[in-house]
Amino acid sequence: MNSELSNNNSNPESNHYQLNFVTSLGADAMFLLQPQKGERILDLCCGNGNLTAQIAAAGAIPTGIDLSEDMIKRAKGNYPDLNIHVADATQYRTDTHFDAVFSNAAIHWIKDAPAVASSIWLALRDGGRFVAEFAASGNIAVITNAIKQELQAHGYEWEGRNPWYFPTIGEYTSLLEQTGFRVMFAQHFDKLSPLKGDGGIRRWLDGFNDHFFHDVSSTDKASIYNAIEDRVKPQLEQDGQWLIDTSRMRIIAIKI
Ligand code: BEZ
Repeated sequence: MNSELSNNNSNPESNHYQLNFVTSLGADAMFLLQPQKGERILDLCCGNGNLTAQIAAAGAIPTGIDLSEDMIKRAKGNYPDLNIHVADATQYRTDTHFDAVFSNAAIHWIKDAPAVASSIWLALRDGGRFVAEFAASGNIAVITNAIKQELQAHGYEWEGRNPWYFPTIGEYTSLLEQTGFRVMFAQHFDKLSPLKGDGGIRRWLDGFNDHFFHDVSSTDKASIYNAIEDRVKPQLEQDGQWLIDTSRMRIIAIKI
């Protein structure tokens, strides 16, 4: 997973909290993929390799790529037999013609979505499938709106802080069609996701400090955190349990 989070092709690695949050969401994407014995499958932005290993366990032949050297090192440590290496999804080129390209919880970290779509198309054999799940339009809108409002209220610019690409279903399926895919399945849905452990929204904010608060003084940060918590609590906290307003896209598209 990545350390340079804006416009790159890796999952977030900044702390284990984020990592657990993301990988816990991978099961449904794997169900959509339905890896078959002998299939060559590219796991795009494979992060810690857990899902790549599941693809291998199903009898398929996965290749995992991720931009983060740290994450690939960790994945190789966990799964020494897997074919996993560092590569940039916006520029990835291969001689292998994959039967499927899979990506979980990563597409939203790469702002150059057309470049990624081209890499995926080029990596697939004719008729091969692209299966992905990622965060989409509306994801964490309550939280990011509150962050924006409170940063601005404290004199900080909002421009340039949001690291994510959260497309609408229309934007993303159009991009895939323009790239040369037939979109067979597209789903966009909202889901309240419980935050695990202590610390609630403050701990969640800490996980994205490098993006949103890197230039904010500690005094301002304390005040901004308080104000954000006050703003979002009525919508995102119920009986002591924090639930964040996630929104996801699931895609199956065929290379034509
Ligand atoms: C998510 O995968 O739910 C997520 C992605 C980006 C920011 C926050 C949450």
